Amino acid sequence: MCFEIRPATANDLPAAIELLREARLPTDDLTTRHLALIAEGGAGMLGVIGLEEFDAVGLLRSLVVSPLARGEGVAGALVEALESSAHARGIGELWLLTTDAHPYFSNLGFSVRNRGAAPAAIRGSKEFSSLCPDDAVLMSKRL
Ligand SMILES: CC(C)(COP(=O)(O)OP(=O)(O)OC[C@H]1O[C@@H](n2cnc3c(N)ncnc32)[C@H](O)[C@@H]1OP(=O)(O)O)[C@@H](O)C(=O)NCCC(=O)NCCS
Repeated sequence: MCFEIRPATANDLPAAIELLREARLPTDDLTTRHLALIAEGGAGMLGVIGLEEFDAVGLLRSLVVSPLARGEGVAGALVEALESSAHARGIGELWLLTTDAHPYFSNLGFSVRNRGAAPAAIRGSKEFSSLCPDDAVLMSKRL
């Protein structure tokens, strides 16, 4: 499948929210500021990834790929591009919370962490405080 990764713009927000809602991922607090990169193909938006920045750490969030485009490496390319751009901006560690994709992120080099290990900035994020520990796995990766 042919696709490109590009920076997100404000115009991407409605389509990104639609993709995230279809996948039952949280959108309540999502703003343009949280959208990082878009994967785009002939059919339009294929996937999205978000980032919340807190100085030297980042919260990877809102990773979703359209059901029709899954299994083609779109999410892998989005995560790799996000890691590169975060590293270039001085972010040394990425954190994430996931309800059912932790095996996927393990394959990409993320490790499961105890909630107490998260930096204060991550613990204070809305996503961290709103997701129940029993439902979500916390993971991190040094860049
Ligand atoms: C998880 C998701 C982003 C993967 O997107 P994708 O573009 O299909 O991923 P890639 O093409 O890079 O990788 C596909 C591989 O990951 C595997 N994979 C996909 N979802 C997985 C999961 N939840 N757990 C473990 N492995 C998974 C596939 O089986 C496939 O394996 P293969 O290469 O051995 O065949 C996509 O399935 C999705 O949008 N899911 C719903 C939203 C979600 O769970 N987001 C993550 C939480 S933030």
